[in-house]
Amino acid sequence: MKVVIPVAGVGNRLKPHTLTQPKPLLHVAGKPILAYILEPLAALEPEEVVFVIGFKGDQIRKFVQDNYSFKATFVYQEELLGLGYALSLAVNEIGDSPTLVVLGDTIVECDLAEFVKAGENVLGVRRVEDPQRFGIVEISDGVVSGVVEKPQEPKTDLALIGLYYFEKTDILGEELTKIVKAGKTTDGEIQLTDALSGMIDRGIRFTPYHVDDWYDCGKKETVLASNRHFLKRLQSPACPEGCVIIPPVYIAPTARVSNSILGPDVSVSDEAVVVDSVVRNSIIGTRARLDKVVIEDSLVGRRARVKGRQKILNIGDSSEIEFI
Ligand code: G1P
Repeated sequence: MKVVIPVAGVGNRLKPHTLTQPKPLLHVAGKPILAYILEPLAALEPEEVVFVIGFKGDQIRKFVQDNYSFKATFVYQEELLGLGYALSLAVNEIGDSPTLVVLGDTIVECDLAEFVKAGENVLGVRRVEDPQRFGIVEISDGVVSGVVEKPQEPKTDLALIGLYYFEKTDILGEELTKIVKAGKTTDGEIQLTDALSGMIDRGIRFTPYHVDDWYDCGKKETVLASNRHFLKRLQSPACPEGCVIIPPVYIAPTARVSNSILGPDVSVSDEAVVVDSVVRNSIIGTRARLDKVVIEDSLVGRRARVKGRQKILNIGDSSEIEFI
């Protein structure tokens, strides 16, 4: 089996953090979002993993090559024309192997081995409260009878979660080529959902597969919510001298924390320094430095520096902030 992971997006809703690194590399509970996706995939021993990279793609390539031993191929997506366009580039690369497609910016927890066995073609789905924001699935007699991308008047609340399995990719390739050539867009983008709809019209059967454990990382609030969720799985760190730790908390072994109160729901990344501070529900980036601050609900980018009083922050890499 081959795997395709589109990771070329710009992550607009997570600026300023995504100005300097791609969204899949943002840390949640001590490791990048992409690591949560790749660890279970690596366990499936895929024949090849094709990454469709774009914005800051070199960082993704380096992260993958430094950390995983599966065969990884990188396809460069120059124009950000949509998920369907990204897939059309990858399909050329994968030939006609059974293929799992996993979006690279949300964390889905399910038994992938079971997922790929659920049918010849499988779509991961979940009920959502805001179906206008997603690809929406209609089901009839246990089979997907229709898919629509971000409909204004959704017929169901069953959303595509970004996990797709194709036993063969020839017809997918044909449908993608068709919409790319025609320049067909929905909601301004060339959509994978439109290619799936074309496949359904041609009689391809998709089995819906319900997945409940789905962790969005699209904006600051959902990154922090995912951080809270995954922190619960980690063991509490040893309490640094002069500190109070309120679990769950993650402190990277190379971070330095002193005279501070941390938690609950705090991740402190590698080589970060936290001194004389109180931190709650926040992610502190690699090599960031907090000195005499009281913060909560904050994302602090890599190498950012904060010194002074209590504030709520959403600041990017290399920011320098001083409250006097
Ligand atoms: C993409 C897909 C959409 C799917 C969603 C899941 O949309 O086009 O069908 O429901 O991912 O996250 P995006 O979030 O890129 O707008």
